[in-house]
Formats: sequence, C-alpha cells, structure tokens
Amino acid sequence: MGNTEKQSVTLKVNGQEHHLEVLPWVSLLDALRETLHLTGTKKGCDHGQCGACTVLIDGKRVLSCLSLCVMKSGRNITTIEGIAKDNVLHPVQKAFIDHDAFQCGYCTPGQICSAIGLLNERKGETREEIQDLMSGNLCRCGANRGIINAVMAVKQGVYE
Ligand code: FES
Ligand code: FES
Repeated sequence: MGNTEKQSVTLKVNGQEHHLEVLPWVSLLDALRETLHLTGTKKGCDHGQCGACTVLIDGKRVLSCLSLCVMKSGRNITTIEGIAKDNVLHPVQKAFIDHDAFQCGYCTPGQICSAIGLLNERKGETREEIQDLMSGNLCRCGANRGIINAVMAVKQGVYE
C-alpha cells in the first residue's frame, strides 16, 4: 500500500505563503489550479510534452505538471499571475502584445514564463537558438513567429 496520508506543505507563490495539506502524488500544477485557484497556469498534456504548465521556481522554468507539490515546499514559485508588478506589465508581456505572440492564449502563460526563464539563463543569442530553447512550449495556433520575435525584441533591449 502506498502512503495515502496528506502532507503539510508551505507553497510560496507570487510572494505569498500558503499552507496546504496535500496527498504525496499531487502535482504542483493541480495544487496551483485546484487548491489555490491560480488558473492562469494551464494544463495541456499533463505529461511534460506541451509546456502549457510552465512556471518559474527560483527564477528557473519548470514544468509544474511533472513537479510534485510536496517537493516544492519553501521554494519561490512565480506563476503568470505574479509576473506583472504593481499593474505594470513585464517587458516580455509587453513584447508579446506588440508582436501578436498569441491567438487563443492557451499556451501564453507558459510561453511567457518560459521566455522569462530563458532570459534568466542568458542563453539564446540568435533567432534559431531562441527557437530551439523555446521548443518545449508548443503553440497550436501557430503564433511561434510572433513569440520568437517578442523574445528577440526583449533580448535586444527594446523593452524595459
Ligand atoms: S501540461 Fe505540463 S507539459 Fe503539458
Ligand atoms: S496561442 Fe493558441 S495555442 Fe498558442
């Protein structure tokens, strides 16, 4: 028999601490969406293949569907709801709007978190490299060109 006891977790999301009791197999994605009602983070495949669930943990991009909630206790988690500060959009958000980097918007929260993680990694100098480094985030609407243009523009310092 597996462990069916709930465990205490402190999730620090967008600067706010939440104390949860969760079963050991609950994903970070489900805890965010279903317990904390932060539904900006999307569930696409739930199997690590689409990137829709990407969040930032300590500034690094992470697939929340493949992360166990109980293992992220105390870490700094940022979801799309925490990206803008004091009603001011993050440069990546501004660039996505200006470059038509979305259509239906379903992949967009994950794309934006992934792009910010990529900028933090200080990788991706060329368009091809950025395309490669963003390839874990799928867009079924085909907004990829706009997405790459937006990331390029931020890298080139067009947005503050
Ligand atoms: S929902 Fe996590 S990668 Fe698709
Ligand atoms: S904007 Fe629709 S899936 Fe990317």
